[in-house]
Amino acid sequence: MNDTEYRALIERDIAHLIHSQYSLRDQQNAIIFEKGEGAILTDVRGREYIDGLSSLWNVAVGHGRKELAEAAAAQMGSLAFANGYTGYSNLPSIQLAEKLVSLSYSNMDAVFFANSGSEANEVAFKLARFHWHLKGKMEKVKIITRRQAYHGGTLATTAATGLPPFWRGFGPLDPTFIREPTNHPFTPCTAECALAIEEQIIREGPDTVAAIIAEPVQGAGGVIPPGPDYFPTLRQVCDRQGVLLIADEVITGFGRTGRWFALRHWDVQPDIVTFAKAVTSAYVPLSGAIVSREIHQAILDAPLPDGRFMHGMTNSGHPGACAVALRNLQIFDDENLVESAASLGQRLQDGLRGLLSEDGVGDVRGLGLMAGVEIMADVEKRKPFPIELGVGPRVVAACKERGLISRNLADNYLLAPPLVTTPEQIDRIVDIVREAVREVVPWARRQKPEM
Ligand SMILES: Cc1ncc(COP(=O)(O)O)c(C=O)c1O
Repeated sequence: MNDTEYRALIERDIAHLIHSQYSLRDQQNAIIFEKGEGAILTDVRGREYIDGLSSLWNVAVGHGRKELAEAAAAQMGSLAFANGYTGYSNLPSIQLAEKLVSLSYSNMDAVFFANSGSEANEVAFKLARFHWHLKGKMEKVKIITRRQAYHGGTLATTAATGLPPFWRGFGPLDPTFIREPTNHPFTPCTAECALAIEEQIIREGPDTVAAIIAEPVQGAGGVIPPGPDYFPTLRQVCDRQGVLLIADEVITGFGRTGRWFALRHWDVQPDIVTFAKAVTSAYVPLSGAIVSREIHQAILDAPLPDGRFMHGMTNSGHPGACAVALRNLQIFDDENLVESAASLGQRLQDGLRGLLSEDGVGDVRGLGLMAGVEIMADVEKRKPFPIELGVGPRVVAACKERGLISRNLADNYLLAPPLVTTPEQIDRIVDIVREAVREVVPWARRQKPEM
């Protein structure tokens, strides 16, 4: 496609499409993707890019997987859809629920399927409240949420999200979502952070708190892994105070951190796990919430008519989506992708840590194939560049020019390439980020010579 044809396509896009997190300025030079193969995306003008964020942290098995298209076609050819509300079921959803229970945590027992990560978290909030409702604790409704958290774009998950730009224009936020006491945004949480949450639960009144929701490694908020004692302490806090622990594994689920599910790094079991994205590697939308035996049992034992779980979604347990997920997870097994994520992740983390000697690289964080590189004006004093310089977006742009697509959160450059990225592509990613830093940091210093 030549430039004139590309510009015409952009005009048509702008005429009738509103994109996620939309701004007209960003859309005017949008990349329009046409195809993908492995970790490489190609746009309509024939330009190739390494997909450094697995698109939106989700295309785990890489692009162009014909076997997933075939699994969808086969299922649609026999049963594309049928009512999955109570009283009905279908084979792929039964098989996938079994598989997810066995892959997640040993205390997990049952799955409710939804379509997106936001919906999965909505379901988790409703399940948590419903659990306490069944136990006669009607006041236990509040959800504790964390700073820098991203949990989705629906009204409840917007309230659960701890990144203020996502609230702008959408208030008032649901006041039953309670924010944890804040600390420095990008430092790893420690046992002290978990104990501060305990004090907060006590202040709120434990009889009013249903759950806390936490990403095992915070993703969109800047790739922030916790300290080793954070989740074990948080689990103890939840047990002491009678509060459910919801692990939002929408990004970390399915190998991203080098384990099937990420709280396994710290030997912690949540009460509810939410998943989405890599369950189908995004070939079709699918998500859900997995609940513990205790939560499941309470639902099974609930007396009718009042104890019926009245949450419903048309596409819950969609046979086509579940069939694609089963085939996708088969690829994980056949190609040992969780082990690959651990070893490729180590290569990525080691490579990026090599950038710490570059001017302006203040921090490199991550776990497995999730990484964040933080740029700072003064590394010793942990002082950022003025936000209006837009250092983070400039690093994104400099990487894009060199054929690497990813994104930033303030001056953090975030990476989460597909689990099938080659070692050579991982090295290329590191090289590109280095080149981008070497271009942008000196530019930023020239804008403010006193820094
Ligand atoms: C941790 C986490 N939870 C929830 C969501 C929301 O998922 P979705 O955009 O599919 O609604 C996201 C999206 O990136 C996420 O990163």
